[in-house]
Amino acid sequence: MNQDYIIADEWSILEKGFDKENVTASESIFSIGNGYMGQRANFEETYSGETFQGSYIGGIYYPDKTRVGWWKNGYPEYFAKVLNAPNWIGIDVKINRRSLDLSQCKVNDFERKLNMKGGVLTRSFTAELSGGEQIKVCVTRFLSLNFNELGVIKYDITPLNFDGEIEYIPYIDAGIMNEDANYDEFFWEILRFEEEKNEAYILSKTLKTEFHVCTGMKIEFLLNDYFIELPYETHKEDKKIAFNYKTDVKKGDTFSICKYGGYTQSMNHPKEELIFALEKLLQKASIIGFYDLLQKQKDAWKKIWETADVVIDGDIKAQQAIRFNIFHLNQTYLGEDSRLNIGPKGFTGEKYGGSTYWDTEAYCIPFYMSTKDKNVAKNLLLYRYHQLDKAIENAEKLGFKNGAALYPMVTMNGEECHNEWEITFEEIHRNGAMIYAIYNYVNYTGDYSYIPQYGMEVMIAVSRFWHQRATFSKAKDQYVILGVTGPNEYENNINNNFYTNYLAKWTIDYTLKNLEILKEDYPDDFERIIQKTHLNQLELDEWNKVSNGLYFPYSDEYEVYLQQDNFLDKELISTDKLPASERPINQKWSWDRILRSVYIKQADVLQGVYFFENHFKQKSIERHFNFYEPFTVHESSLSPCVHSILAAKINKMNKAYEMYLRTSRLDLDDYNHEVHEGLHITSMAGTWLSIVQGFGGMRNFNDKLSFAPQIPKEWKSYSFKINYRGRTLKVFKDHKGCKFTNESDKPINIFIHGKDFKVAPKTMIEL
Ligand code: BGC
Repeated sequence: MNQDYIIADEWSILEKGFDKENVTASESIFSIGNGYMGQRANFEETYSGETFQGSYIGGIYYPDKTRVGWWKNGYPEYFAKVLNAPNWIGIDVKINRRSLDLSQCKVNDFERKLNMKGGVLTRSFTAELSGGEQIKVCVTRFLSLNFNELGVIKYDITPLNFDGEIEYIPYIDAGIMNEDANYDEFFWEILRFEEEKNEAYILSKTLKTEFHVCTGMKIEFLLNDYFIELPYETHKEDKKIAFNYKTDVKKGDTFSICKYGGYTQSMNHPKEELIFALEKLLQKASIIGFYDLLQKQKDAWKKIWETADVVIDGDIKAQQAIRFNIFHLNQTYLGEDSRLNIGPKGFTGEKYGGSTYWDTEAYCIPFYMSTKDKNVAKNLLLYRYHQLDKAIENAEKLGFKNGAALYPMVTMNGEECHNEWEITFEEIHRNGAMIYAIYNYVNYTGDYSYIPQYGMEVMIAVSRFWHQRATFSKAKDQYVILGVTGPNEYENNINNNFYTNYLAKWTIDYTLKNLEILKEDYPDDFERIIQKTHLNQLELDEWNKVSNGLYFPYSDEYEVYLQQDNFLDKELISTDKLPASERPINQKWSWDRILRSVYIKQADVLQGVYFFENHFKQKSIERHFNFYEPFTVHESSLSPCVHSILAAKINKMNKAYEMYLRTSRLDLDDYNHEVHEGLHITSMAGTWLSIVQGFGGMRNFNDKLSFAPQIPKEWKSYSFKINYRGRTLKVFKDHKGCKFTNESDKPINIFIHGKDFKVAPKTMIEL
């Protein structure tokens, strides 16, 4: 059974009624973020029930000592952990000296709402404490898009049936541990406390990585919306500081605390100025005030939605889901800082270490490229460019030479920090995604200058890796790539994974082709790059041999490329024969059984067919899809979206829709029974792709922007916008036809169902 307590609504995520069972799931689903920092939707007040407290700051990590059963040479020394940061949201509440704790009192009319339109989290309820006191509570919280180091909370309490004492105990607590610490160690050192009138700051630094972080709070009070001043007592513990305010409140009056909080950190400020910078910010916030900050927050989100929104008419759950996905992507990454990236769980949990995976290149870049200015995608590419030296070191550690680069499967700073051999050493397909992303960016934005300026160095280093990683097989008289894991992690140490081999060949060919272009059109850059990389003709000839002689496993019987050598030795039993009680197989089966089975975790050959769809004829796409999808269990969040897109391409709209629902509501309905650990942020980009590339049929091959819109029968219409080379194009589709509106003041050329159209500025064409 999937969960179903989230109420369908177009613009918000809504939960009504308090159920302790849902607390950790909701903490993930209602998470908030602003690209710089993010946090789970933990309650501000004490909660003694099951909870997963989490607050994270982009880029702040700790190299936790590796823990593996059997050490293998080449393993990274550490597994980077995104750090659970000090808590600045805490506000303990006492009513007539009794603690408010939703797990211990009667709760009525509980409503939690994530307003996606405005980027605001609210919660309201009435509670009855053990002394019979009833209170109404309303809480508003947001992480500011305008001041990215700032978070704001307004917490209102109205006594409903009594006059009595209300105590607010706001605090900051730097004694936070990571849930996923390998050796239960505390990763922070507390350096300094500072406190003055209604403000407190704790300066701490991370062990080993020495990131300095200042966490702060500034407190104000309102009675029926008028400011009041209150005396307070300070309580200091070794890692925590709290202020204790109390006052008598009359029945029906609303007593509110405003807490301005957040973090400054040493990636953005000199360490010695962190406290001062946060003081200045919190004071500024208090001058602007809660209501104006809230309005600014809504205005900033409005701007994001102007290009990012997808409107679906006739299916409220689908509408809610796509906005949920777009919303969380924007909460995680906004593209202003090329040192940051998109962790698979964003700021919503610790699993996957908040680190960067190939998910960014394969899934997220197209989303950001189409919904934001091209510099956002460029920053994501530059992130890898700046880590090229580390990727070269990473390859050297494994025995590669001459500037060959292996980008890490998991990283925070460019170093590999995943330590399962089948992933670290074998899942090398990720290296190809780096180059595919460059190609995709240049192709979509038309910004070719990226290649001479940055891209070519990465392309050369990765081509060197593929050349060295290939082995010449005398038996086959061809080059082979041995001992890999493809995207399907349910197979390890296989030979000649089609997807990996295809990317390897394509990377070399693409690099060679662009070297020719640079030689002709960018001779200065060409010279500079040749000098820097010491590339010579002999080496290029060697690359050519590998590319021309690479082997691809193929089945004449099924007329499909095989996922790997000997794939057909497996017992070909499709997933419809797999009882629901045995799924997900990664939780129900032994690993041994998984490895021997035909079941595929996620798109593998089909990932290649998706990337290089223009290399395959329609019939061949159909054959590959029809062969592989029945064996696919979609147990990676990255799987359903690719299948949805390909299913739409081959006119299997029911399948495309089924896969769309699965990708878009993966977390809202908790398909994989793991939402309490955090959300699947990177696959959310895949959800967006399922609409735009899947149903909308958008493609961008060979400098042509094309569409082939279709619509699921369950919907009345849908529309989306894309930013393409400085133009905004709106695409609308219903059951009668489709409309394309060029909202910009430059013309745009598009192909619709293969026919060529020029859409003049500010005009619409209808078909
Ligand atoms: C998938 C990988 C992916 C990772 C992070 C794994 O389950 O198999 O392809 O990179 O999750 O999303």
